[in-house]
Amino acid sequence: MEFVRHLLLVIHLLGFGALFGGLLIQARTPEKAVNALMRDGSGTAFLAGLALVGVIEADGGSVDHTKIAVKGVIALVILVLVMANLRKERIANGLWALLLLLTVANVCVAVFWR
Ligand code: HEM
Repeated sequence: MEFVRHLLLVIHLLGFGALFGGLLIQARTPEKAVNALMRDGSGTAFLAGLALVGVIEADGGSVDHTKIAVKGVIALVILVLVMANLRKERIANGLWALLLLLTVANVCVAVFWR
């Protein structure tokens, strides 16, 4: 179970990395868009996060449900915004900045909320 938990955490972090990278590579591009990295990364981070909670609780461990609810809502907002704008040729710079802010906010919640 410990191995599965660590594997899911690695997948979770790879998903986060893909989302963050997909956003960051557009930092100097004047016209932003939702790319495949952002699509796959947000979905992977979300699903692996849910699975992590399941594995931790199934193993007898406990998670802070308020923290997980906050992370879940932020991640869901990211996912919905990414999916809703997937087929658009470009997105507003403000939306790109919001997605970056929400992603960084979720890392801060993950790390600082103990
Ligand atoms: C874009 C969305 C997300 C980002 C950027 C993110 C980021 C992170 C990071 C950086 C960690 C490692 C820090 C640590 O372990 O203390 C982590 C751990 C974790 N995340 Fe997320 N997360 C996201 C979404 C979610 C969601 C939706 C859930 C569940 C509903 C979730 C559940 C967890 C859990 C349970 C851990 C701890 C794993 C452990 O201690 O074994 N995450 N997340």
